Amino acid sequence: MKVVLGFSGGLDTCACLKLLQEKYGAEVITVIVDVGQRPELFRVAEERARKLGAAKHVYVDAKEEFVREYVFRSVKANGCYEGYPLSISLARYPTASWLARIALREGAEAVAHGCTGKGNDQFRFDLTLSAQAPGLRIIAPIRELNLTREAEVEYLGKCGLPFPSTPYSVDENLWGRSVEGKELEDPSRPPPEEAFQLTRSPAEAPKEPTLVTLGFEGGVPVFLNGERTEGVRLIRELNLLAGAYGVGRIDVMEDRILGLKAREVYEAPAATVILEAHRALEALVLTREELAVKERMDRKWSEMVYGGRWFDPLREDLEAFIEATQRRVTGEVKVELLPGRAQVVGRSSPHSLYDRERVSFHLQGFDQRMSASVTKFHGLDGRIQRMRG
Ligand code: ARG
Repeated sequence: MKVVLGFSGGLDTCACLKLLQEKYGAEVITVIVDVGQRPELFRVAEERARKLGAAKHVYVDAKEEFVREYVFRSVKANGCYEGYPLSISLARYPTASWLARIALREGAEAVAHGCTGKGNDQFRFDLTLSAQAPGLRIIAPIRELNLTREAEVEYLGKCGLPFPSTPYSVDENLWGRSVEGKELEDPSRPPPEEAFQLTRSPAEAPKEPTLVTLGFEGGVPVFLNGERTEGVRLIRELNLLAGAYGVGRIDVMEDRILGLKAREVYEAPAATVILEAHRALEALVLTREELAVKERMDRKWSEMVYGGRWFDPLREDLEAFIEATQRRVTGEVKVELLPGRAQVVGRSSPHSLYDRERVSFHLQGFDQRMSASVTKFHGLDGRIQRMRG
């Protein structure tokens, strides 16, 4: 049996590679999809794939696709679930789609992934694989064999790949990084510094703030500090700038799809800055009514992406609305980077709805006396109820 395995080179997928050969009798093609992990991880993955007996190892560069088709749509939708900017959720869809495509190309019988039966990623992988390649069998060895991380470490030790101790469960891409497991599973304990890789501790951040200017066109960032910058590079550079200030550390209790609460730790420096800036620009150019409805649509879009429902037509229906609102989300936002946070300090747009003349304390703008008749009627039903009550 030929199997295509989504392979990061981490504990779970290394265990899967060996298990597929030994327990499933499979010939395994390992596939790593580049969604902007740190480059050193690819070398490690390739070495481990060879060492553990992969028949073939395939690298796919999906960074641009990831940004264009997933991250930027999420920016337009202010994608966020319970304080988490969907970094990992988004990347699962292109990753699983590539696995399906390669499996079909290689004539494989099955696609395998390293998800456990406890998390959310199994939903995103399984739903994408069955949408993109319905005829393929899906194998999830960790879930099927009901393994713990300790059992995986022990098994790999016997196979000649020693892990000195059980590592964190980590996932990363351009839009952020997640860390789970070990002492982080005690929600009362602050995460140790070693859990973080993309952000410096805010305590060590420069005391002097840095000003970053983001230029948006149609709802997506295209200029960084006045220079037109392609998406992958823009996010990379912003990760470095904001990461140095410890911006984008997120520590939340998260409600997983299965109904389990989990303590999740994330680093998402660029995502934090871009989403803040995008919201600030929308607040300048969209009407109150648009903002109110969009907030609900954004929330629904985020829940669907989090929940594995990328292939539900509602996701595209919501995007049709969101896209229509984004035509005016063009302009510039100034963000100050400070230790541990990003603060919007300026915004401008050719589509701005801000009317300085009318709103100003200093300018006449309109005849204030007209407002008195408006306040007489505003909230009238509530006052009537009180008078009667
Ligand atoms: N809780 C996040 C999500 O559902 C992150 C999942 C992290 N995955 C991992 N393999 N460590 O999107």
